Amino acid sequence: MRQMLLGLTALATFAAVGQAAADVNIYTTREPGLIQPLIDSFTKTTGVTVNTVFLKDGLAERVATEGESSPADILMAVDAGNLVDLVEKGVTQPIDSQVLKDAVPAQLRDENDHWFGLSYRARVIYAAKDLDISTFNYEDLSDPKWKGKVCIRSGQHPYNTALFASHIVHHGAEATETWLAGLKANLARKAAGGDRDGARDILGGICDVAVANSYYVGLMRSGKGGEEQVKWGEAIKVILPTFRDGGTQVNISGAAVAKHAPNKDDAVKFLEYLVSDEAQEIYAKANYEYPVKAGVAADPIVASFGELIVDKASLSEIVKHRKTASELVDKVGFDS
Ligand SMILES: [Fe+2]
Repeated sequence: MRQMLLGLTALATFAAVGQAAADVNIYTTREPGLIQPLIDSFTKTTGVTVNTVFLKDGLAERVATEGESSPADILMAVDAGNLVDLVEKGVTQPIDSQVLKDAVPAQLRDENDHWFGLSYRARVIYAAKDLDISTFNYEDLSDPKWKGKVCIRSGQHPYNTALFASHIVHHGAEATETWLAGLKANLARKAAGGDRDGARDILGGICDVAVANSYYVGLMRSGKGGEEQVKWGEAIKVILPTFRDGGTQVNISGAAVAKHAPNKDDAVKFLEYLVSDEAQEIYAKANYEYPVKAGVAADPIVASFGELIVDKASLSEIVKHRKTASELVDKVGFDS
């Protein structure tokens, strides 16, 4: 009864925002505008209609509470950790789709097929334009030659815990603690703010290099973030760093099919459409991300960073070390 009532509440939510019953319902923590052009084109070719419900947070809790009466078919989120949280809360189901498996590289999807990356972003180095470097290893962030020259946001932010967890996958927890202590000693200022502040502080002469996500460069340089940010974006060059024994650390935006999806077949059909060449190009470009599918062009601003070699460590494996990474951040007093 309780579940039925909650289900009715969810349906009422759809009605309240004026949406007619659709064939596929997406719950997303991403701005729905990013996929709206793709929804329109999908509906035009297939006749299948798609609704989006934007949830700023509490996605897993909402779907879990709605239970069997949940109208959600697709759950979309950013960061592999959030997708793993959905699996751990038991609100997803495996997707048996060769199309998705063929399009999405193995390290960017769940080993049990519960979630798939749809686009990805890299954790890169912003460097002062005139700085005489063209390559960078993540390990170098602790090199004393960068003392007082590195800017980065809070070590507890998911973007950084994912990077630090990747370091654990490559080098183990003990070496990661040493590395984090070295990086902390190199900071030009307190680990705080956002990724774009790294570019701002390079322009301001506070730091020489900053650790930040790739798509912000597109948002800054394109003017989408306002005039001031164009100057920040123009003040830096982007270096795609790699682990010494690997590639560049990336994270995804991705999707899962809800455990009680009322329209599973159409949901899978829509996800398969999202990894088509046409959709990949549009979806990735909408937020200056990399398409997951090989051979699909990135936005010219993103392409200008050079060739990106995605690290081979799987996101499923990296997420397992999130907790240790977070504990090490506290242990070395990274944010203090
Ligand atoms: Fe972001």
